[in-house]
Amino acid sequence: MIKASNFGSDFIWGVATAAAQIEGASGDYGKGPSIWDTFSNRKGKIKKGHKINLACNFYHKYIEDIALVKHLGFKAFRFSIAWARILPLGRGEVNQEGIRFYHHVIDECLLQGIVPYITLYHWDLPQALEDEGGWTSFSINAAFNAFVSICALEYGDKVKNWIVLNEPFGFTSLGYMLGIHAPGKTGLNNFFPAVLHTALAQAEGGKILRAEVSKAHIGTTYSCSEIIPNTQSDNDILAAKRVDCLMNRLFVEPAQGLGFPTGNWDVLEKFQMEYGTWRLNERMKFDFDFIGLQNYFPLTIKYNAFIPVIQAWEVKPKNRKRPHTAMGWEINAESFYNIIKQFAAYPNIKNLMITENGAAYHDKLVNGNIVDAERIEYFKLYLAALLRAKKDGINITGYMAWTLMDNFEWAEGFNARFGLVHTDFKTLKRTIKYSGYWWQEFLNN
Ligand code: NOJ
Repeated sequence: MIKASNFGSDFIWGVATAAAQIEGASGDYGKGPSIWDTFSNRKGKIKKGHKINLACNFYHKYIEDIALVKHLGFKAFRFSIAWARILPLGRGEVNQEGIRFYHHVIDECLLQGIVPYITLYHWDLPQALEDEGGWTSFSINAAFNAFVSICALEYGDKVKNWIVLNEPFGFTSLGYMLGIHAPGKTGLNNFFPAVLHTALAQAEGGKILRAEVSKAHIGTTYSCSEIIPNTQSDNDILAAKRVDCLMNRLFVEPAQGLGFPTGNWDVLEKFQMEYGTWRLNERMKFDFDFIGLQNYFPLTIKYNAFIPVIQAWEVKPKNRKRPHTAMGWEINAESFYNIIKQFAAYPNIKNLMITENGAAYHDKLVNGNIVDAERIEYFKLYLAALLRAKKDGINITGYMAWTLMDNFEWAEGFNARFGLVHTDFKTLKRTIKYSGYWWQEFLNN
């Protein structure tokens, strides 16, 4: 049986969240609107028309929620700062109530003996900045840098662990290419400039933290998935390579000074040429203290000539009769091990941390209990794969479960439940699931 102690006594066990998904109070206490406030009010964008404004009401329940983190046995709590709570218009005037709120959250963590990990950007861009073009506009970088600097100076004495961006590929692709996340933009003409400014932001944000926070431990996070070609045909292998370039390599390589990857793919070569990205290679470089990996599933990729640009298509786990979660995501711990190995192979990465991993299921509250045995199984499998990678000698220093409690799962609304704690979205009552108790036992033994 796998034990927490197998990972070593200094291994960091945490649980992760994000402001927009839990806070609520979305238009209160001086907070400006974010792109997710706008998007969730647009018809047909969020499943069942769910609205983000109250979410889990963490804004008013943070003391209770941090107590839950402690009660479950976690040593670290990852949360994000809502940019528009600090700077309602994205830049300029600072909202002191917002500043105070995160002081309260941090102080509460410290009081309870929980180590805070702050994510500076977890997808909730101030709407005022989106009105100028958001991540597609070069003006975003100065605004982001100013925001980072305010947070660093304000909280840097108390908080040493910082994450610059959450899943840059996630928000640039879903929000600026596919349009299924806020701000709902589509096409390569939005995607490519967003990618460029985001890659600059991750490095510049890191440099600001380095300069302004003494003894900072600075990271950023990447979504990652092992990309498996459907067959060994040349075409499937080619399609898989393209997807790998986008999903796994696009942001980690510029941070290491390698520039954007192209994988000999004309689309990415053209991006480099048109934007002259190599001129910015030095600016996009930053020596992170840790790289956060967020993995949920692998992708099996097949060549398909009819898919524009990428000519690649996913063969869904359901159609391959593979086990999957309520999101339709394949459960495959071996692929978790493989993708950790893939990232560990970069010679410049010193230290990996799993900053998100977890699963959504159709949980049922029966007589006050949520018996989510499948989620427990998922964690057991994935933790065993993690331990295997660690035993291979890979420097993995921590693991954070996604997520503390059921929350606003972006375009899925409140329908996808990833929490270790159940949230009743009518009463906002929290109920610890069996998986939460499983973690409690795992971490206390
Ligand atoms: C990645 C994102 O960072 C997080 O916000 C999201 O809820 C989880 N994955 C699950 O989809």
